[in-house]
Amino acid sequence: MERWSGRVALVTGASIGIGAAIAKELVKHGVIVVGLARRVHMIQELSKELHMYPGKLYGVKADLSKEEDILEAFTWVKDNLGGVDILVNNAGVISFSRLVDAPSCEWRQAYAIHVIAPSICIREAFRSMKDREVDDGHIVNILSITTNHSPEQQPIIMYFASKQSLRVLTEGLRRQLLQLNSKIRVTIHELTIRPVGEQ
Ligand SMILES: NC(=O)c1ccc[n+]([C@@H]2O[C@H](COP(=O)([O-])OP(=O)(O)OC[C@H]3O[C@@H](n4cnc5c(N)ncnc54)[C@H](OP(=O)(O)O)[C@@H]3O)[C@@H](O)[C@H]2O)c1
Repeated sequence: MERWSGRVALVTGASIGIGAAIAKELVKHGVIVVGLARRVHMIQELSKELHMYPGKLYGVKADLSKEEDILEAFTWVKDNLGGVDILVNNAGVISFSRLVDAPSCEWRQAYAIHVIAPSICIREAFRSMKDREVDDGHIVNILSITTNHSPEQQPIIMYFASKQSLRVLTEGLRRQLLQLNSKIRVTIHELTIRPVGEQ
C-alpha cells in the first residue's frame, strides 16, 4: 500500500457502510480520499474522526443519478487535488419490490447507480489518468456474488440484473484497456448477500 500514499482515490457511496469503511482504510494508509454521496455531512463527520491518520478524507456532495453532479465532483478533484488515481465504484441501492409490480423508477435508479454512474466515473477517471500520464491507476467495481444466490431466493431481481451488467462492463473495460496498452488495473470486488432467512 505504500506506493498509494499521497495518491488520490475517489470512492462513491462513502457516507456509510462499506464505502465509509473503504475510505477509512485508505486514509489509514496515507491516501487522499474524496468520498461522494448525497449525505456529505456523514463523510465530513467521518473525516474528523480520521484526523490522526496520514491520509485525508474530503466529502463532495453528489447525487450519482445526476451526471452533472458527477462531472462537478471530478472538476472539484482536478481543481483541488490534481486528479484521480484510484476509483472505487461502491455506491449501491437495494429494493425489495417485486418485478411484477414495482414502480419503474426503482428500476431506473438501480441502473443509474449500478451501471450509468460507474460508467461515467470510469470514463472521467480514465480521462484524468490519461491527461496526467498516470499509468498505474486502479479502478475497483464493487459487485455481488450473484451466481450462488439465485434471484428467486430474494425479490431483488433488478439489483442482481444491474450488478450483472456492471460485471459485463468491467470485463469489457479490461479488454479495452489491454487494447490501449494501458497498465491501469481493473478489479472486481465481490461481496456476498446472505439469502433471506439464513443466519
Ligand atoms: N452490504 C452487503 O451485504 C453487500 C453485499 C453485496 C454487495 N454489496 C455492495 O456493496 C456496496 C456498498 O453496500 P453497503 O451495504 O455499504 O450499502 P449502504 O450501506 O446502503 O450504502 C450505500 C451508499 O451508496 C450511496 N448512494 C446510494 N444512492 C446514491 C445516490 N443516488 N447518489 C450518491 N450516493 C448514493 C449512499 O450514500 P447517500 O445515501 O448518502 O447518498 C451510501 O453511501 C453496494 O454496491 C452494494 O451493492 C453490499
